[in-house]
Amino acid sequence: MAIDKKAQKEKIRKIKIYNNKMYKEYEKVNKRRNIPESEYLTQMQDPKNLIEFDNLRSYFYTDVGTVKAVDGVSFAIPMGKTIGVVGESGCGKSVTSLSLMRLLQGPQGQIAGGQIRYNQISKKRAVDIAKLPRKEMEKIRGNEIAMIFQEPMTTLNPVFTIGNQIDESILLHNPKMPKSEVRERTIEMLKLVGIARAEGIYESYPHELSGGMRQRVVIAMALSCNPQLIIADEPTTALDVTIQAQILDILRDLKDKINASIMLITHDLGVVAEMADYVVVMYAGRIVEQGTAKEIYHQPLHPYTVGLMKSRPILNEDIDRLYSIPGNVPNPINLPKSCYFKNRCDKCMEKCNGDYPGLISVSPTHKVSCYLYDKGLVSDKKAKVGGK
Ligand SMILES: Nc1ncnc2c1ncn2[C@@H]1O[C@H](COP(=O)(O)OP(=O)(O)OP(=O)(O)O)[C@@H](O)[C@H]1O
Ligand code: SF4
Ligand SMILES: [Mg+2]
Repeated sequence: MAIDKKAQKEKIRKIKIYNNKMYKEYEKVNKRRNIPESEYLTQMQDPKNLIEFDNLRSYFYTDVGTVKAVDGVSFAIPMGKTIGVVGESGCGKSVTSLSLMRLLQGPQGQIAGGQIRYNQISKKRAVDIAKLPRKEMEKIRGNEIAMIFQEPMTTLNPVFTIGNQIDESILLHNPKMPKSEVRERTIEMLKLVGIARAEGIYESYPHELSGGMRQRVVIAMALSCNPQLIIADEPTTALDVTIQAQILDILRDLKDKINASIMLITHDLGVVAEMADYVVVMYAGRIVEQGTAKEIYHQPLHPYTVGLMKSRPILNEDIDRLYSIPGNVPNPINLPKSCYFKNRCDKCMEKCNGDYPGLISVSPTHKVSCYLYDKGLVSDKKAKVGGK
């Protein structure tokens, strides 16, 4: 027992030394001034994409070890399209979006590798957000890329009126705009998100509004700067079911009214299938399947996606209990070398004990990371697996 305790202490000490070394290295890189453009200018793989995640790795250097929250994630957000990112709690959805906003909590949270290419139309160039100097990122954040958080009160300030806050946000990005024009734009944004009495809401304080109304205001605020990308991280989780549907309707409606791309993060595959053009399914920091919403909804291939499909709530369906995938997401610190879903998978076979399965293309848009679709098995299994 005593030896165990000693070994444990020694392990923690080594982790601390390693983390401190890493913090110093990151700080050295992040604190530099006058970073040459050549370090962060890049080329988009496809100019029709707004964002290209390329082998993104985002880690947390914690006291108990390195959490590989996002580990080798690659996908694109095309211009004007909606991408849905789905997965259970803790699979890395928020860390992916926080990396894109460069809002990981340091010194523990760091982008450890990979590129996040951003097609910065306003400057007619492409930049790697992962390497962008802080000052440059501040100009993009909240302006060209806006975020809608789960809990509207994290964005709204209780001591200012709604109008005041949206005005401020517009002014921050358009300092020369005359006041009357700013107010007009705020009212226009409030109307765009379905607020009928916009003039009245303009004068209200956040506490005077319902949760659903506050979330509409937050969406209006995000839209007020005319962003290229709106990230909505579980925008309806804190709301009741009817209001959830209304907020999703607004987002769906906005898709056609504005020219922005939307990254919609949720654990509900039903929601993304309805709203998104493309869907990315994440599990334990990696993408296990991606494809068009149609492909994922009508032909889910990965056993995890099939499980998520089964566990989604269906309106008007009378069931006692919702299905939930048995077992838990593995500990993110000691992930196995083989498939992370192995201990929960009812399709597991001998081959699955091998290395982590590579991504297999089953159509130009549909990719899956599972041995069931390994060469030779694909056509056979495609017919059998999936569906509901
Ligand atoms: N500040 C942090 N320090 C240490 N680990 C963290 C931190 N933030 C997130 N993680 C870890 O990173 C992993 C991914 O977390 P993330 O928040 O991205 O999950 P998520 O998919 O958004 O889940 P949810 O649906 O609950 O929001 C988890 O294992 C989580 O414990
Ligand atoms: S690789 Fe094997 S264990 Fe992993 S999801 Fe596919 S069938 Fe299941
Ligand atoms: Mg999250």
